Amino acid sequence: MDEHEIDDKKNTVPFTARIIAYYRAMETKCENPLIVDPYAERLTGDMTAYFEEHKRTRGTGDYAVVRTYYIDNHLLAPWCNKHEKFQIVLLGAGLDARAYHLESLQRNEHTLFEIDFDIVNSYKASILQDDQPLCDLVRISADLSNPAWISQLEKEGFAHDIPTFWLLEGLVYYIDQEMVISVLKAAAKSCGEGSQIFADVCVPGLTLAQFGPFMMHFRWGLNKEDVPQFFAHSGWNVTCAFADDYDQGCDVGQRGLMFVTGLRDLSRLGVPLSLAESVDDESMKIPESEIQSFSKEFIKKTIPEIEGILDIYQNNSDVGMTTYLEFIKKEKPSLKRIVKSFNNIYSIGQISSRLLRDPSTVVLHTREEEEAHIVGYLKAILYLGYCGAKGLAGEQFSITSLYKLGVKTQTINKMQSLVDLVREDLQMATS
Ligand SMILES: C[S@@+](CC[C@H](N)C(=O)[O-])C[C@H]1O[C@@H](n2cnc3c(N)ncnc32)[C@H](O)[C@@H]1O
Repeated sequence: MDEHEIDDKKNTVPFTARIIAYYRAMETKCENPLIVDPYAERLTGDMTAYFEEHKRTRGTGDYAVVRTYYIDNHLLAPWCNKHEKFQIVLLGAGLDARAYHLESLQRNEHTLFEIDFDIVNSYKASILQDDQPLCDLVRISADLSNPAWISQLEKEGFAHDIPTFWLLEGLVYYIDQEMVISVLKAAAKSCGEGSQIFADVCVPGLTLAQFGPFMMHFRWGLNKEDVPQFFAHSGWNVTCAFADDYDQGCDVGQRGLMFVTGLRDLSRLGVPLSLAESVDDESMKIPESEIQSFSKEFIKKTIPEIEGILDIYQNNSDVGMTTYLEFIKKEKPSLKRIVKSFNNIYSIGQISSRLLRDPSTVVLHTREEEEAHIVGYLKAILYLGYCGAKGLAGEQFSITSLYKLGVKTQTINKMQSLVDLVREDLQMATS
């Protein structure tokens, strides 16, 4: 192995940078690409062995591509035009090659700082050693979970009195929430008037998924309505929208990730936080086992066919992806309707990303990931069953949200009608 290699098994979080670069490389080769990154193919490196083993991951790049498109065209281009002298700081820069190819960076006077783990930076430097950036580029190796990063940045020439664009693209959910607050506060306190931020944030439900190269490492999430408060507490005045709202015709496939943009605002720095996650009354929590057994009972009564599939997977370790795909394919019309009807009641990122994807594009996978995927999907159905049956309505689809929910009878009615739809479709499929 090359001394600078980022290995998918040993360096799992840094490796996500190679997968994102792969998505950019694939998009660059498309007929009408949304983004073009001429460096991405070299930076991603040889992914053949990885994708042989993890086939499903190959097809899920739209989210990352749309995110980059949005940042480049709607944020960075106007930003670079507007400011004569400025800085850009890429936190968790990964294999981002904007410094080498983004035209907007040729305007005006600025420095671009890239911060990531040393393993990522050494790998990147080894590949780009003969290339010339379009602007002043400073690469800093640091762990952002350690507050020392800000003094490293200052030592490397970061200026306090000019506007700074802070880019946290695909980063915050990999770092503990308290440390993210510390990073955001340090950023806000250190930069000049007019500084701007972009970050993407996941809903709490996505942290339950626990599968795949990205979500496996998601540590925390925010309910959409909590996002402005969270960022205000950390020194930023932001707005936030689901990524789907920017999907550019691609199917980003979920309402589980949000784009957050805004300006530095120290006026509310440190305002108390009262997020869903900070509920610490253990006695109010519904044990997961109760959710599982209750919703299994509910599903058994209302959608026996789903109960059947649960049993198949629980009791037969030989059943694989093919059965699962057949099942989804058969029920796709109803499941799609369920997802649509529940939008804006539950942010069901965790389910919709699975259900809305065309099963025929899902390729057979390793046994381990196949199981994780199926279990995640079934778990999502169980929670949905639980919420519906108990008449619970919530903004987010996660266990933490269950105990702050009020009873809404219309939800159970809605659930029941959706269940009826599934039954109808199942009957049609089997008759
Ligand atoms: C999904 S990649 C995104 C990379 C890049 N922003 C992009 O969009 O191409 C996440 C990046 O965050 C970096 N990262 C995660 N946790 C970090 C930490 N504690 N300190 C520094 N970098 C971190 C990883 O090494 C990885 O390069």
